[in-house]
Amino acid sequence: MPRYADSDKEKLREAVDIVDLISKRTELRRSGPGQYKGLCPFHEERSPSFSVDAHKGVYHCFGCGVGGDAFKFVQETEGLDFIGAMESLAQRVGIELTVEDEDPRAAEKRKARERLLELLERATGFYERYLWESQEAAPARAYLVDRGFTEETLRTFRVGYAPSAWDKLLMAGRAGGYGNREIFDAGLAVKSNRGQGRIYDRFRRRIMFPLADARGRVLGFGARALGADQKPKYLNSNDGEIFHKGEIVYGAHLARSAAARADEVIATEGYMDVLALHQAGIVNVVCIMGTSLTERQVGELAKLGKTVLLALDADSAGQEAMLKAAKVAARSKLALRVVPLPVGLDPADVVQQRGVEAAAEFFQHSVPFVRFQVDRELERGDLTDAEGKDKVIAALRPVFATLPPSALREELVDVVTAGVALDRAKVSSWLSMPVEEEDAPAAAPAAVQQSAPPQRQPYGGGRNGGGGGWQPRRSFEPDVGPARRKGSQVAQAERAFLAQCVVTPSLARDLLPKLDKATFSSEFMGRLATHLEGNLEEPTANIDEGDDLLRNAVSGLIADSAGLTNSPTVLRRELALVELKRLERDHRAAIAASDGNAAGLRVKVDAAKQRWEELVSQSLEEAA
Ligand code: UTP
Ligand code: MN
Repeated sequence: MPRYADSDKEKLREAVDIVDLISKRTELRRSGPGQYKGLCPFHEERSPSFSVDAHKGVYHCFGCGVGGDAFKFVQETEGLDFIGAMESLAQRVGIELTVEDEDPRAAEKRKARERLLELLERATGFYERYLWESQEAAPARAYLVDRGFTEETLRTFRVGYAPSAWDKLLMAGRAGGYGNREIFDAGLAVKSNRGQGRIYDRFRRRIMFPLADARGRVLGFGARALGADQKPKYLNSNDGEIFHKGEIVYGAHLARSAAARADEVIATEGYMDVLALHQAGIVNVVCIMGTSLTERQVGELAKLGKTVLLALDADSAGQEAMLKAAKVAARSKLALRVVPLPVGLDPADVVQQRGVEAAAEFFQHSVPFVRFQVDRELERGDLTDAEGKDKVIAALRPVFATLPPSALREELVDVVTAGVALDRAKVSSWLSMPVEEEDAPAAAPAAVQQSAPPQRQPYGGGRNGGGGGWQPRRSFEPDVGPARRKGSQVAQAERAFLAQCVVTPSLARDLLPKLDKATFSSEFMGRLATHLEGNLEEPTANIDEGDDLLRNAVSGLIADSAGLTNSPTVLRRELALVELKRLERDHRAAIAASDGNAAGLRVKVDAAKQRWEELVSQSLEEAA
């Protein structure tokens, strides 16, 4: 780390116009001689309590209490230490810093590094110009337009294009005065197999995403293939002199100020997600560049905001990344929340297929990380027999062990109780049992089994409801695409539909009689629907004395319907989802049986899906 002359600090203080500096982050108005006011860039506010004193060179916010000089401002807004802030300001005003007491070797290393950074900066410009100006990049431009990106977004992220020839960048680099060694060290070239120290361009016929550090300095590239013949899909700079993939999150420099204001940052998986959300106006977003999240990256996330919203794919790799994030976060003060995404869609897909509002909706429905864990165990577990339920509870004990008594904890006990369909008091006490070191989460817990035997019998049916039992209403809806999850998803959809019937009786009265009860996934669901059909005014009426199963189910529906509003569109949407799920099951069965019906069913599935998606959009519009 270089040490700069003290006089440089004063020189910088003189040269930097703090009003100009801060104006880049928030709009300032003159409020008196040398006095300026504006909305605080560090917290969310409607009326300005942030003031700048141009003469003294300081700022202060009466709302949130922040304050300092130009150095402090750069440190806070760019996430830098003091030295970094000096460098950033020096760059801005064009002052060369003098390094003090540097040994010659260190000086040489630093200069070499600076040259590589400069080369990377030039390469970024080269790729950018290629994207916008070359004939060759026309398909790349068309591709990006097709993905819905505007020129403004692409320019903000400095997206570029690497030509397909083997040596275009190499030539440009050499023309700029860089040697082969430097071009190689910057990660822009690879060595030829033929040896003799020959190198050629590493990135060819790819869309280039510059990967920058927290200050926006380009350290490397992520390069997307254009053709199906190109592998891998994304070729990243390899770790080398400058670039270390595990140390950065993509887009941090652009997300920083919005993230600071909201004290919250969204972590997605891919470059496209960041661009798409940014363009949709959700600016506090970065990506972890795949799923192998590192501890350093979690640290980088923590620097951006106290809360991290994980918006990773619902697939298993994404879920693993979330668990890993949780482990690291547990050691810091980071609050983790999970944004439930539809199975098979990433945030960029959501924006493109469902629109900006729908995407914003998803981010408003994040759940605390523990809720995600509970839902995940319930979903993965086999809840059809006692052993499966024991396992789920055992797996959840370590999760509950981390939870202090709170409303959230109680709510989660409810969720588990509903999920396993057992007595709440018992579930609660089992979940609270101490977790021993050895306690392998998935193993059947001896302790649970010991206390459980007398209650084992009713598991299969009877008092507490049998079979799959009620699944809690998940926030992981709406769900689209091939049902990759287990049957519980279907039960969820059916239950959501029936709960909506309870609050939308006028339309339900029309719809229910027309609905073939075989549409439901189980006979019991069909029976429940039939009961509801005849008792919409008072669903709890006309239940046989001994029919606990039905009674529990009906009270579950009523509980579920508590948060719902009367909306014919939502009811139609829920029904469309139930019908879609039925068709998907039929379709899969037809494929399995090779009975020749699959093609016809495929068409029906597509039509049902489209209808459902239309209703999703329509209901979102109505809600907005
Ligand atoms: P995805 O395969 O989900 O790609 O990888 P994507 O971001 O959705 O891109 P599109 O929409 O298909 O164009 C997620 C992220 O994982 C990293 C990249 O950072 C990518 O954005 N990745 C993926 C790689 O580094 N290498 C790969 O080969 C694939
Ligand atoms: Mn994608």
